[in-house]
Amino acid sequence: MKRLTLTALLLLCCFFTPISANDNGKKSDLNIQKITVSDELRAKHTLKPHHEHLAFDCIDCHTNQGDDPSKFKNIKDEGCLSCHGTKKLLAQRLKFMDTLKANPHNSVHDGPTLYCDECHFEHKP
Ligand code: HEC
Ligand code: HEC
Ligand code: HEC
Repeated sequence: MKRLTLTALLLLCCFFTPISANDNGKKSDLNIQKITVSDELRAKHTLKPHHEHLAFDCIDCHTNQGDDPSKFKNIKDEGCLSCHGTKKLLAQRLKFMDTLKANPHNSVHDGPTLYCDECHFEHKP
């Protein structure tokens, strides 16, 4: 009987150790990346009001670009579209401007194919 309890205890230990190790692994999988951004760098990279008032932080856009904010790169079309859907969808949202051929997201010359940064910047006017 005693031996059985011992075996049970040992087994329990074996089971619990890897489980807690897994738990830790899972936590780092979640995207709770924390980076430190100097006030100076932050001041140089102000956000557009529509994004600022959503309390966006740098890594909401500069996702998977490492943890050195001074080395962040342009997020390009893919970055914008990861939140704003597709170019077609954006064109659809401003469809009322098609009547005047003035829909910037459905250009008379190029349709919905232009790069976002032909018109929009984040840290510059
Ligand atoms: C809403 C998305 C968004 C957020 C939030 C954001 N960025 Fe950017 N970042 C961009 C885009 C887009 C560019 C490309 C240049 C531009 O549009 O101004 C860029 C470019 C950069 C660059 C490349 C060099 C440069 O100056 O053009 C750095 C460095 C940078 N961002 C730092 C930051 C820091 C630091 C923060 C947080 C304070 C931040 N970014 C927050 C979208 C974002
Ligand atoms: C992390 C998600 C996210 C990213 C990345 C992002 N945005 Fe946004 N953006 C939002 C949300 C949420 C809003 C507010 C809701 C809305 O109006 O659609 C918004 C609002 C805007 C608005 C104002 C909308 C209005 O109705 O006035 C513009 C313009 C805009 N974003 C352009 C861009 C561009 C260009 C990029 C790429 C440089 C970009 N966004 C990247 C989430 C994002
Ligand atoms: C030819 C210039 C141009 C290009 C290219 C462009 N935009 Fe725009 N965008 C504008 C203008 C101008 C407005 C304001 C329209 C208005 O008067 O409401 C606008 C408005 C927006 C809005 C707010 C309206 C809405 O649909 O919610 C978002 C979001 C946006 N742009 C995102 C993007 C993204 C993402 C890209 C790249 C895929 C992009 N834009 C490419 C000029 C452009």
